[in-house]
Amino acid sequence: MATLVGYKKIKTAVFISGTGSNLRNLIKFSKSKKSPISINYIISNNHKSKGLQYAQIFKIKKKIFNFKKRIVEKQILQILKRNEINLICLAGFMKILSKNFISNFEGKIINIHPSLLPKYKGLKVHERVIKNKEKFTGCTVHYVAPKLDSGKIIIQKKVRVSKRDTPQIIAKKVLKQEHKLYPKAILKIFNH
Ligand code: GRF
Repeated sequence: MATLVGYKKIKTAVFISGTGSNLRNLIKFSKSKKSPISINYIISNNHKSKGLQYAQIFKIKKKIFNFKKRIVEKQILQILKRNEINLICLAGFMKILSKNFISNFEGKIINIHPSLLPKYKGLKVHERVIKNKEKFTGCTVHYVAPKLDSGKIIIQKKVRVSKRDTPQIIAKKVLKQEHKLYPKAILKIFNH
């Protein structure tokens, strides 16, 4: 991936579907001096995403798309190009992007997943972790490839699972680590 040239920050779009705590965290990070990125666009598939509030709070452009329509990805690509977006961070984004979309941003789309990939791809991760009596779980930041949760791993963080942990408790513990890991991954990508 491209390295940072001069002092210009890499224009980044964050795709969300829900709460947006990772989005909020990335915005906070982007405002720090050491951050190689700025957050310039927020895209959501869900107008009820709580995370959309951060567009207003931090004065970031946002757009909500109905992903049932086939033309949507084309429209998003146009917006991203028009806004000179050079990095896409998926943060709790619940839609699968097409091969064509991904090839338009080759090596420039990253995602955070709440497991130690390649273990536990997909949904209901923490339930499966408990069912399998795992002693550890964690989170992963990876490049996005057409196959779900299968792109090259950038960075991971382990989280201990206790016997009495519920899926909710694990989710909370993992999310706390996600907030540290996503900025770390971005620094790693851009050689900081
Ligand atoms: C995170 O656990 C992320 O790994 C998963 O969905 C959750 C999103 O949380 N894909 P938030 O919307 O960033 O608060």
